[in-house]
Amino acid sequence: MIDDPRRRWQLIYQTKVPSDLSWYQPIPQQSMEFVRSTCLPPDSPILDVGGGTSTFVDHLLAAGFTDITVLDLVPAALVEAEVRLGAAACRVHWIAEDITAWRPVRRYRLWHDRAVFHFLVDPALRARYVDVLRAALAAHGHVVMATFGPNGPTHCSGLDVKRYSAHELSAVLGPSFLLVRSQIVEHITPAGRTQEFLYGWWQAQA
Ligand SMILES: C[S@@+](CC[C@H](N)C(=O)[O-])C[C@H]1O[C@@H](n2cnc3c(N)ncnc32)[C@H](O)[C@@H]1O
Repeated sequence: MIDDPRRRWQLIYQTKVPSDLSWYQPIPQQSMEFVRSTCLPPDSPILDVGGGTSTFVDHLLAAGFTDITVLDLVPAALVEAEVRLGAAACRVHWIAEDITAWRPVRRYRLWHDRAVFHFLVDPALRARYVDVLRAALAAHGHVVMATFGPNGPTHCSGLDVKRYSAHELSAVLGPSFLLVRSQIVEHITPAGRTQEFLYGWWQAQA
């Protein structure tokens, strides 16, 4: 077992094509529905945390968003997404960083995280994640997070995860974030297995 998280994720990306990864979605339907619900204008800064090779960025670009940042621990995953996007990749900011150690230099009106936070099983790393979120989010900014739900998997890609209800995730974010809506969604993996996800949308109160 490799201890360094970056190397573990690198290995996962080296051994599978994006469409074979268990979390793969050709269309990030729920994420895009939440984005539309925020009614954010197209020039709003959006951050996709742990975006990896996700097609979320493709759909944001297609929806007309012009200020998109994708951050991930694994540079090769970002390069893979850039290659897929071709010329459109230069309209996106790409950041290869560990979200728990990142120091944001600007603020975002939407923080999106699908299937990243639930891998933070160490409470100290979760606390750092929330600190970074607070530092990166604009006043009254939106947070859309998707984690494994209460009946979701207990492991993913050989890694431990922590499962959440909307109430538990709200407690992690703290009282300055108002839960606007949550939804339980069954994700079907490329191998045909069902995984329960919890999607939530919060808005910062200041
Ligand atoms: C399960 S994948 C989800 C990818 C993408 N969000 C999606 O829904 O398709 C988790 C992603 O989080 C990234 N990741 C894991 N820990 C991270 C960290 N501490 N900081 C930034 N990215 C991280 C991994 O490299 C991987 O791309």
